[in-house]
Amino acid sequence: MNPPVALIAEVTHRCPLSCAYCSNPLDLKRAAAELGTATWLRVIDEAAALGVLHIHFTGGEPLARRDISTLIEAAAKAGLYTNLITSGVQLSDKVMGELTQAGIDHIQLSLQDVEAEAADASGGYTGGHARKLTAAARIVGAGVPLTLNFVVHRGNADRVATMIDLGETLGASRIEIAHAQYYGWALLNRAGLMPSREQLESATRAVEAARERFGGQIVVDYVAPDYFAARPKACMGGWGRQALNVSPDGKVLPCHAALTLTGFDFPSVRDHSLSDIWNRSDAFARYRGTGWAPEPCRSCARLEIDWGGCRCQAFALTGDAAATDPVCALSPDHGVIEQALAALDRPALIPRKIATPQTV
Ligand code: SF4
Ligand code: FES
Repeated sequence: MNPPVALIAEVTHRCPLSCAYCSNPLDLKRAAAELGTATWLRVIDEAAALGVLHIHFTGGEPLARRDISTLIEAAAKAGLYTNLITSGVQLSDKVMGELTQAGIDHIQLSLQDVEAEAADASGGYTGGHARKLTAAARIVGAGVPLTLNFVVHRGNADRVATMIDLGETLGASRIEIAHAQYYGWALLNRAGLMPSREQLESATRAVEAARERFGGQIVVDYVAPDYFAARPKACMGGWGRQALNVSPDGKVLPCHAALTLTGFDFPSVRDHSLSDIWNRSDAFARYRGTGWAPEPCRSCARLEIDWGGCRCQAFALTGDAAATDPVCALSPDHGVIEQALAALDRPALIPRKIATPQTV
């Protein structure tokens, strides 16, 4: 079996923001449940030994952990390409210096919108947008490649062209325009977040125009809302094929939403090595490859392209993780997608929250 390319290290669920489109699970882990520094250092060494090439430090907000620079330094020393995915509101000069010293290779910074008022309302953090703009300048000033990430939803989808302009102004080398994906809190808020088809088409045109204008000088990534697609995304590049995800409390998952699935006992790094989990656990084997696939996937030419779509979305929308992703127009359950798109009201969004106070 090929080794995983990437380790997604969800080092904490704590976060100073409370975005309604957060795709983290409803059951957020508290600080007391998080893995300690020593365990993360072992996991990082095991990942390098297993053949992992990239490590993505994410959360929640990874800067909420005081040991984040220690973890990044260990990963860099182990030969891993290190990426920090952050909201940036805590990225002070001091923290930036520590990250640079630790050997960070890349930072992905999220922005909620283009104007402070709307952005701060979306993230639930007064003054957050201004701090993020300062953080972007610090990252670029330190010579660290910057990706700016905008999560797009009904409330901001009309401003995609302006988002891209802002990314250019801030000196990003990559701009990610990512429509919200409906997991965790975002699924709870789906009816209020889903853009209209007109908004989607206009956002897509803005991305295409920017790509033409930049000619590859700035990369513009685009994550479409798959509810509008006729075929599903190849979620995670296929279950257990390319990446593993370690949750804040040490569970090893094929994707960050897998804890929503029932009928699994996901192994923990507290009890097993990453190598054992990747190569021998039932959880990773269950939907790996194509042997598990039902019809119509089993006899479909796209099975080794999209791997039947997303197992977590199939479970969330049909109750069966082994079903064809209902996003696929060939799925017998595709009606649930059509019903969701036909019933887009405007309920108040529920902000993400965690019961524990922030310790940052
Ligand atoms: Fe993909 Fe299955 Fe749909 Fe074929 S039938 S496009 S394999 S989800
Ligand atoms: Fe779990 Fe797609 S998010 S398989």
